[in-house]
Amino acid sequence: MTILITGGAGFIGSHVVRLFVESYPNYNIFNLDNLTYAGNLENLKDIESKSNYTFIKGDITDEVFIDGLFKEHRFDSVIHLAAESHVDRSITDPLAFVKTNVIGTMVLLNAFKNAWKDNFNNKLFYHISTDEVYGTLGEKGLFTETTSYDPNSPYSASKASSDHFVRAYGETYGIPYVITNCSNNYGQNQFPEKLIPLFINNIINNKPLPVYGDGNYTRDWLYVIDHARAIDLVFHKGAIGETYNIGGFNEWKNIDLVKLLCQQMDEKLNRLKGSSEKLITYVKDRPGHDLRYAIDASKINKELDWKPSVTFEEGLSITIDWYLNNEEWLNNVTSGEYQKYYQKQYN
Ligand code: NAD
Ligand code: DAU
Repeated sequence: MTILITGGAGFIGSHVVRLFVESYPNYNIFNLDNLTYAGNLENLKDIESKSNYTFIKGDITDEVFIDGLFKEHRFDSVIHLAAESHVDRSITDPLAFVKTNVIGTMVLLNAFKNAWKDNFNNKLFYHISTDEVYGTLGEKGLFTETTSYDPNSPYSASKASSDHFVRAYGETYGIPYVITNCSNNYGQNQFPEKLIPLFINNIINNKPLPVYGDGNYTRDWLYVIDHARAIDLVFHKGAIGETYNIGGFNEWKNIDLVKLLCQQMDEKLNRLKGSSEKLITYVKDRPGHDLRYAIDASKINKELDWKPSVTFEEGLSITIDWYLNNEEWLNNVTSGEYQKYYQKQYN
C-alpha cells in the first residue's frame, strides 16, 4: 500500500507518520509538506532513513504539482493533515486559511478522483478535522457526530468548508472517505504558539503567561499519541463515509489547566511552590472566542474500541519533560519569525 500523508512535518502529522512508518514496514509512506513555520523535519529525525519513508517538499495548493505526484506514485490512500491550524493567526490572516485548508483540500480531492477515476476499490481519502467545526457549547452538552456545523473563527470555518467538500466528493463522485473531528491535542513537538507549549516556554523563561479573557474557557485535551492511535484505527477499521469524533474525556477550564501546568513546572524546575503562578497575566480576549468544546467519543470507543491511554496528569508530565529535554528544538523554533509573531500577538 502506498499512502500519502500531508502535513507530516507538523505536530500531529509527525506522530502519525512515525506510527505508520514503524508499525507497517510493508507500506510505502510519503510525507508531503511545504514546511511552513509549523513544519519541522527535526520532528522526524529518528525515522528519516527508514526504507519505507519518503519526504516530499511541496504545496497542496499547487494543482499541477499535486496532479503530477498522484500520476507518479499512484497513492492508494491519503491521510490529509496539512493545514493552517492556529485560530489566532486565522484572525489576522483569514485568506491564508481559505487557501490551504479549502483550496488545498480541493486540489487533493481532485487529484485523488482523477487518479482512480471510478475504480475506488480499496482506496481511501481520510480527512483529519477538528471539533471546532461544531462551534461552541454552553456549560452543558457534548459534540456528537450529528451536531450541526456552526463554526465561529476563520480557522474553523475553513475546516468546516473542507469537511463539506470531502462529503460532497463522496456523494457526487463516489470517493471513499472517512472524516475524524478531534479535540485539542497536546504533547511533544507542538509549535509554541498553542496554549500548552507557549506557556511551558514562557515559564522556562520567566515570561508572563497571557490568559485570554477571564480564563474560564473550556477545552477537551487529548495526548497527541492517543490521537495518532485513533487515526491508525480509523484508517484500518473505520466505515467508509462515516465521521468519528475523537476526544480525551478530559475537560479543563483554561485557568485550572494553567495552574496545574504551573505546579508541575515548579516541581520539575525546583522552583519555589507558587512561583510560576505569579506569571499568570489576564490579557485582552480572543475575538469570537468559543466558550467550551467537549467531545462525545462514544462512537469510536464502542465501534473501534479506542480510548485514551494516558491520564492528563501523566501526558502533561511527559510533555513538559520533553520540552525541558529538547531545549535546542525549542530555541530553534522560537528564534527569528517567532519573535515577530509574538510581538504582534501579545504586545
Ligand atoms: P501544524 O500547524 O502543527 O502542522 C501543519 C503542517 O501542515 C505543517 O507541517 C505545515 O508545514 C503543513 N502545511 C501547511 N500548509 C501546507 C501546504 N499548503 N502544503 C503542504 N503542507 C502544508 O498542525 P497540527 O496541529 O499538527 O494539525 C494537523 C491537522 O489536525 C490539521 O488539519 C488540524 O486542523 C487538525 N487538528 C488539529 C488539532 C490540534 O489540537 N492541534 C486538533 C484537531 C484537529
Ligand atoms: O479543538 C481543536 C483545536 O484546538 C484545533 O483544531 C486547533 O488546530 C488547535 O489550535 C486548538 O484550537 P484552540 O484555539 O482551542 O487552541 P489554543 O491552544 O490556541 O487555545 C486553547 C485555549 O487557550 C483557548 O481557549 C484560547 C486560550 N489561550 C490560548 C493562547 C494561545 C489563552 O488563554 N492564551 C493564549 O496565549
